[in-house]
Amino acid sequence: MRKLEGTVYHAARGWLPQLLEELGERDRLDGELVTVLGPRRRARWVRNTWLEPFLLDFESVGEAARLLKDIQRNWAPCPTRLHRRTALVAERLPSLPSKPKRFPFEVPDVPMGAFTLLDEHRLLGSARCSSPFPNGQFDFEEDREGPPSRAYRKLWEALALAGTRPAPGERCLDAGASPGGWTWALAELGAEVLAVDRAALEPRIAAMPGVSAMRHDAFTLKPEDVGPVDWLFSDVICYPPALYAWVEKWLESGLARNFVCTIKMQGAGFDRASTDLFEAIPGSRVLHLWHNRHELTWIKVEGDRGLGSP
Ligand SMILES: C[S@@+](CC[C@H](N)C(=O)[O-])C[C@H]1O[C@@H](n2cnc3c(N)ncnc32)[C@H](O)[C@@H]1O
Repeated sequence: MRKLEGTVYHAARGWLPQLLEELGERDRLDGELVTVLGPRRRARWVRNTWLEPFLLDFESVGEAARLLKDIQRNWAPCPTRLHRRTALVAERLPSLPSKPKRFPFEVPDVPMGAFTLLDEHRLLGSARCSSPFPNGQFDFEEDREGPPSRAYRKLWEALALAGTRPAPGERCLDAGASPGGWTWALAELGAEVLAVDRAALEPRIAAMPGVSAMRHDAFTLKPEDVGPVDWLFSDVICYPPALYAWVEKWLESGLARNFVCTIKMQGAGFDRASTDLFEAIPGSRVLHLWHNRHELTWIKVEGDRGLGSP
């Protein structure tokens, strides 16, 4: 085994161009895996980061599986070529959890590795990865009747990775709430939710216990008008600087304890300057969730477990 002094970045689904732009120069590109030697770089458009990559030579698929198993139990295959041979190695490894997860759940603190075959007798792997899920991918058991949109899945994911969630009775501001997916998820947890949107909330969501709906521009609502909140959520579609300016007001006011906000990118681009500003806020992080689209999620949460980040 030969250790590589560098990092392998597995691009977020569909966002390889953004990752390549973010990383600049690279040393290898294997499918959606970007290898960069030298110090780790800041990378947000990833589904998983391979933190301790190595090259491993082997004679047979059996030997490849045995050598990986000698290191640890969990290995996610990430085929970039030689798909059949990769599958043959994977078949000889312990199976990985693949059942959709029911929220809330505790993410286990068990290392999840990843590997890809570079040729018939050499693989690139890493026992330590940023994501606790195989290739950063997992699904929730979905509720097809309760929520009016599927946006709640990214909220669930953010809370699962933070390892915490609103407790019953905690006060939440849900900005950009319509039609009500996030509000539904928060009300299901027993939280008190002030749902703010210029558009109407779906009536049956507005009628849930603990929910009050307000039709308003979230950004012209001052923190003092809302009062203290335990959690501030935003899924507002807006330019990232507008969200940042609003979040700054809340931070200055000291009236919100926890934040989970979606940073929506416009067009094909990536607003790196705004993203850097968010990430520079102490005690916070920015990541691309499996359930995110052309957007990133900023999390500033007390007791954040930090799962999903390098
Ligand atoms: C992606 S949707 C939110 C989906 C929602 N989180 C859910 O789970 O169903 C974005 C919302 O932002 C709202 N929005 C856009 N600008 C806004 C503003 N300045 N103030 C409040 N809401 C705004 C839109 O009306 C839209 O409903």
